[in-house]
Amino acid sequence: MYHNHYKYVSQIINQGLEKAKLGGVLIYSGHAQNYFLDDMPYAFACNPHFKWLVPITETPHCIIHYKPEGKPKLYLYQPRDYWHSLPKTVEGQWAQYFEIIPVANKEEVPDFSDLKNHAWIGQEGSCEYDNLKHNPRTYMDYVHWHRAVKTDYEIDNIRQANKLALRGHKAALRSFKKGFSEFETHLAYMLATQHNEYQLPYGNIVAQNENGAVLHYQHTQRFRHKPEDLKSFLIDAGCQVNGYASDITRTYAYDESSEFAHMIAAVDKMQVKMGQQAVVGASYIDLHAQAHLMIANILIDFDIVAGSAEKAVETGLTNVFLPHGLGHFLGLQVHDIGGHQSDEEGNILSPPELHPFLRLTRTLQENNVLTIEPGIYFIDMLLEKSKATKQGDFINWLRIEDFKPYGGIRIEDNIVVKAESPINLTRG
Ligand code: GLY
Ligand code: MN
Ligand code: MN
Repeated sequence: MYHNHYKYVSQIINQGLEKAKLGGVLIYSGHAQNYFLDDMPYAFACNPHFKWLVPITETPHCIIHYKPEGKPKLYLYQPRDYWHSLPKTVEGQWAQYFEIIPVANKEEVPDFSDLKNHAWIGQEGSCEYDNLKHNPRTYMDYVHWHRAVKTDYEIDNIRQANKLALRGHKAALRSFKKGFSEFETHLAYMLATQHNEYQLPYGNIVAQNENGAVLHYQHTQRFRHKPEDLKSFLIDAGCQVNGYASDITRTYAYDESSEFAHMIAAVDKMQVKMGQQAVVGASYIDLHAQAHLMIANILIDFDIVAGSAEKAVETGLTNVFLPHGLGHFLGLQVHDIGGHQSDEEGNILSPPELHPFLRLTRTLQENNVLTIEPGIYFIDMLLEKSKATKQGDFINWLRIEDFKPYGGIRIEDNIVVKAESPINLTRG
């Protein structure tokens, strides 16, 4: 599979170079940055342009020298020191596409200051050469546009990342059912997926009860609720395989016969339907609008909102309960780049005014990979704001009190766009 992947990626890079009138690129894997006034680094995160070509994701200071002609050179950082342990051998089909040159230190990296007409692709401040164009717009926009179409190799990696994460989700559910704390549940996930914190594609969101209303809830509380106080569990957690991420959310009610459990089932049902609509030619802005209409209907069915569903969407009432976008591109980054581009030239299609947090506005293409992640949340800050306006007249405040202790619901799957039947990598 890597062979076809390489063929596609090199074709895109070649065309990007031609558009930007460049003769080649140096793609830098990156390095970890230190904390302020400290010699301790933040976790290293590999440059997505690098891991698009080379699935070495935890090694800093590597450089790919790519030119349209000949085998690209990979300067593979292998320091002779006793501080860190870095791989001494490389394995995998990908390796045959590169001339691999181990470098132990900076002095062993060639001097690139004589390179003509080249670009450096890497994090801010990493380029030490005046002769290189740093992340040139034309090249970046072209690559980012086309990177949104995934090869079979990439889809397979995202599928594996889903499989692994689902093992973690299962373990987390068992932990919740036993009444364990958020922290214990987080650890159950880590153990089941064999991931370290720095290997996760994003910090696990492990939220019980009201904490489910915090969209990117980052704490993991250490205490166990008494069984009679335990109401709900929202887990948003993924994995990485060869640098590709999964991003999955599930929500559970402790009491499986509660109204909240029925609401979860309703969101789950509409989420599956939305996933089936991620077909070639669909506008993601339209899908987002449709999702709001479906959420409005659920809110009406549960006697939380009064009036028509259309009106609830038009007036922004559904935004009180669903204040984030329906989803985003997924791949080498959790929020993969290029979601707002309208073409390969880098023109931008902004999200609608009423939905500024929508990360994906594109018309879908075959083999785009994206998330579908609708939700319903009971967020104090947004509810209070709406209570102070006419909007509040359409909310049944007694029902809000019923549901607030449960926090919120989000259901999130990873979908491959197809002409007729999109592939759900999470449920499949
Ligand atoms: N886990 C972050 C997100 O769903 O976008
Ligand atoms: Mn997501
Ligand atoms: Mn998520």
